[in-house]
Amino acid sequence: MRECRRTATPPRIRIERLLDDADRRSALYDETFWSLRERPKSMPAVWLYDERGSLLFEQITRLPEYYLTRSEREILVGRAAEIAARTGAETLVELGSGTSEKTTLLLDALAAAGTLERFVPVDVSEEVLRASAQAIAARYERVGVHAIVGDFERHLAAVPAGGRRLVAFLGSTIGNLQPARRADLLAAIAATLEPGDAFLLGVDLVKDRARLEAAYHDSAGVTETFVRNGLVVVNRVLRADFDQTLLAFTPYWDAEHEWMDIGFTARAAHVVRVEELESIVSLAAGERLRLEVSAKFRRDGIARELAAVGLHLTAWWTDRRHDFALLLATRSPDGGPR
Ligand SMILES: C[S@@+](CC[C@H](N)C(=O)[O-])C[C@H]1O[C@@H](n2cnc3c(N)ncnc32)[C@H](O)[C@@H]1O
Repeated sequence: MRECRRTATPPRIRIERLLDDADRRSALYDETFWSLRERPKSMPAVWLYDERGSLLFEQITRLPEYYLTRSEREILVGRAAEIAARTGAETLVELGSGTSEKTTLLLDALAAAGTLERFVPVDVSEEVLRASAQAIAARYERVGVHAIVGDFERHLAAVPAGGRRLVAFLGSTIGNLQPARRADLLAAIAATLEPGDAFLLGVDLVKDRARLEAAYHDSAGVTETFVRNGLVVVNRVLRADFDQTLLAFTPYWDAEHEWMDIGFTARAAHVVRVEELESIVSLAAGERLRLEVSAKFRRDGIARELAAVGLHLTAWWTDRRHDFALLLATRSPDGGPR
């Protein structure tokens, strides 16, 4: 009888919007203007994640060639309880949270350990973030959800302080940043961590070229549609006239930088107008237009990058095939498990 009369705690959701259109416009337009003048020409990967892009990315995660999500999920299935026990986190912060699908493994483990009080997803993609925040609030009715529509490279200071926090950055999204920006972001994350907080990072590992290239050039063409959608978004928002037929989708493994270079090669010389930037972009035949990189990691390298910003690796787990790694890091001086 008692259960029948029990009233469920109403879902507590707060959605904080740090990216208004004007703000997004000034930062992103500026960055796009300058990146189209780099060698090779490129565009910020944020253009890939409008609502359609986020849904396409969700389809990518289920492709047979795209092993990343399955591998990371496998590690989380095996280790979520251990992560919950090691961190004792009351707040789970998730950077670049997307649909937070895998994150429910962590939320379940923290809830089972009895520590979870709050979930703070941070993403630039507002529609997807709102939907996932609602879904999480409905599933965990005793957990507060404070979703932040923001840019993790600019808005980390808005992540609420207090309590033991686990900051998760999954999906190897860190690999979409080139080394200097990656170092800046890791330093900013390290600076937000208080003693007792922990950082959980998912990184894709260096492996043979054929598997890497297949993961970004799947036989069903979903990744190509996803990357081409970035051009559709730029054409719409920046009033540009990128002609998809003049651009071949040509992702390739760059062994020197150890990243997948994801973008296009111009089939012929042509000119693109970008009205909102008041600029004209000339592409020569065979010239590259990069939309994204996806860096792959080795344990020593990422441990060094973390150490450089004062973070200590406390755990390193891989899936059975050693394709992907999840690592835990803290600012505690001994770096050992609590
Ligand atoms: C590769 S997806 C990973 C999604 C999810 N974490 C996973 O593991 O499947 C990258 C996510 O980061 C978000 N994102 C990309 N750049 C961002 C930025 N600068 N600030 C906040 N979110 C960003 C995208 O909208 C997208 O949801």
